Amino acid sequence: MSFKQRMLDFFNRKRSVQLGGGEQAIKKQISMGKLTARERIKMLLDEGSFHEYDLFVEHKCQDFGMDKKNLPADGVITGTGKISGHPVCIFAQDFTVAGGSLGLMHAKKITKIMDHAVKLGVPLIGINDSGGARIQEGVNSLAGYGEIFYRNTLASGVIPQISVILGPCAGGAVYSPALTDFVFVVDKISKMFITGPEVIKTVLGEDISMEELGGARVHTTISGNAHFFAASEHECFEQIKKLVSFIPWNNRKKADPFPPKPPRKGQPIESIIPTEPTVPYDVRSIIRAVCDDSDFFEIHEHWAANIVVGFARMNGETVGVVGNQPLVLAGVLDVDSSDKAARFIRFCDAFNVPLVTFVDLPGYLPGVDQEHSGVIRHGAKVLYAYSEATVPKITVILRKAYGGGYIAMCSRHLGADFVFAWPTAEIAVMGPEGAANIIFRNEIAAAPDPDAVRKQKIQEYTEKFANPYIAAANGHIDAVIEPAETRDFIIHAIEVAAHKIESRPRKKHGIPPF
Ligand code: HXC
Repeated sequence: MSFKQRMLDFFNRKRSVQLGGGEQAIKKQISMGKLTARERIKMLLDEGSFHEYDLFVEHKCQDFGMDKKNLPADGVITGTGKISGHPVCIFAQDFTVAGGSLGLMHAKKITKIMDHAVKLGVPLIGINDSGGARIQEGVNSLAGYGEIFYRNTLASGVIPQISVILGPCAGGAVYSPALTDFVFVVDKISKMFITGPEVIKTVLGEDISMEELGGARVHTTISGNAHFFAASEHECFEQIKKLVSFIPWNNRKKADPFPPKPPRKGQPIESIIPTEPTVPYDVRSIIRAVCDDSDFFEIHEHWAANIVVGFARMNGETVGVVGNQPLVLAGVLDVDSSDKAARFIRFCDAFNVPLVTFVDLPGYLPGVDQEHSGVIRHGAKVLYAYSEATVPKITVILRKAYGGGYIAMCSRHLGADFVFAWPTAEIAVMGPEGAANIIFRNEIAAAPDPDAVRKQKIQEYTEKFANPYIAAANGHIDAVIEPAETRDFIIHAIEVAAHKIESRPRKKHGIPPF
C-alpha cells in the first residue's frame, strides 16, 4: 500500500470514531439512560454547526498497559458550534472511552477550547461525564485539573461558563463546575461528590447511595451546587438553549435584544398582593405581570426558595430579577438565600444585565442555627454584591421592607438608581408588633389591660411608620407608584440608565465576605 493510501486510511479511521469506546461501551452508556458525547453535542447545537478539533490528539501514557490502549479523541470531544445562531465553544467528555477519565492530553484539549472561548469572547459549555483523574496518569491528571481550574477562574466574569453534569463528576473534578456560572443536572444521571460512597463507608461507616449523596435532586434542593434540574437530557438541553438566549456572549457585550412583547393577560397586578399584610403570595406572579410575554426564566428554582432570581425581558432587553418570596419563610434573607442572590447579582453585574429587585421581606431570619451558620457573613454578601454592582439597578418595594432587609434589598443607600414603592409599602426599622413591644414595653406592662394597650400602640406605630411616605419625604425612594404603573416605570428607568457611568475607587479587587 502506498504511503499516501496509508495516510488516507489513517485519516478515514480517525474520522470514523463516532463509536467512541466501541459498541459494548456504548450499549452500557445507553443502558444507563445516557446519550453518547457526540449525540449530546448534536442535540444541543444548531444542526450542522458543530466543528470538531483535536481529534488526532493522543495520550502519551506508557504505564499500566496504557501504551497499548487506543483512546479515541482521548475521551473528550471539543469544538465550536452555535446555539440559535449564538457561537459557543464546547467540550463533552466521552464516558465510553476509559470512563471519560481525565489524563494530561484530555485536559490539554479542554484547556485549549477554554482559551479559545476567552479569546473569541463566546460562552463555554462543558459536558461532564467522567470517572475523574485518569488513575494511570498519576500526577499528570492532577496537573490537568489544576490547569482547568485556573482557566475557569480567569474566565470568570469574562465569558459565561456553563457546566452540564451528565454522569459521574467525582473527586476534585467537581471544582471545575463549581467555579462556573451555571450548573445543569439531570434526574438519575448526574452524580457529583468529593468522596464517593465507598470512601464514606470506609471512613465513616455510613451506607449511602450515590443518588442520595450527590444526585440531581440533592444538588438542586439541598446543596445549591446546581442551578437547573431536568427530567431528561433533552429537557436539559432545552434549558441551556433558553439560558443562552438571555445572556450576552461576553462581558463586553449586552445580551441580544428580543422584539418587545407585553405581559400576557392574567390576574390584574393590583390584586396579587393580599390586603392582609401577613398573608403570603407568589412574587413570581408580580414578575410575570410586568415582564415581556410573562416569561420568567428562574434560576436555582428549587433551592433557597425564599428568594427568587432569574432572567426576564423588559421591552425586549434582558434583565436580572431578584425578588423576596413571601410564600417561603415570609421571604426572609438567610444563609442560603443570601448566597443565591449575591452570586446572581454578581453575574448580572459582570455581564451588563440591569438588575430589577422586588422587595417584600420582614428582614433576616432570626435564630441560633442561622447565627451559628454565619448569617452575618453570608448576609453581608448581598450588601457587597449590590453595592459593588454598577449596572442599572431598579428597586420596587411591594410591601414589607424592614430593618436590614430594607437596606440589603438594593436600597438607594446601596446605590440603586431608582427606588419605587407601591402605596402598600411598609418601610420601617422593624414590624409594628416588635417595635411596639420594645419602645412601649414599660407603658404596656404598667397598663391595667396590657393587651389593649399593646394593640393600641401597634396601631399607632403602623399608622405612623408602616407606609412609604416617610421614606418618600426623605428622598430615600423616588416615587410612590400604582401597581399598574410598575412595568412602565421599570422600562423607563432602564432606558434612561442605559448609559450610566459610575466610578469606583481604584483597586486590584475587593475582598467580598466569601
Ligand atoms: C481510569 C477509569 C477511571 C479513572 C473509570 N475508569 N474511572 N480509568 N481512571 N478515574 C474506567 C474503568 O476502568 C472502566 O474501564 C471504564 O472507565 C468504565 O468504568 P466502570 O467502573 O466500569 O463504570 P461504572 O460502573 O459506571 O462506574 C463509574 C465510576 C467508577 C463510579 C465513575 O468507574 C469509579 O468509581 N471510578 C473511579 C472514580 C475515582 O475514584 N476517580 C478518581 C477520583 S480522584 P474498562 O476498561 O474496564 O471499560 C480525582 C482527583 C482529582 O479525580 C483531583 C483534582 C483536584
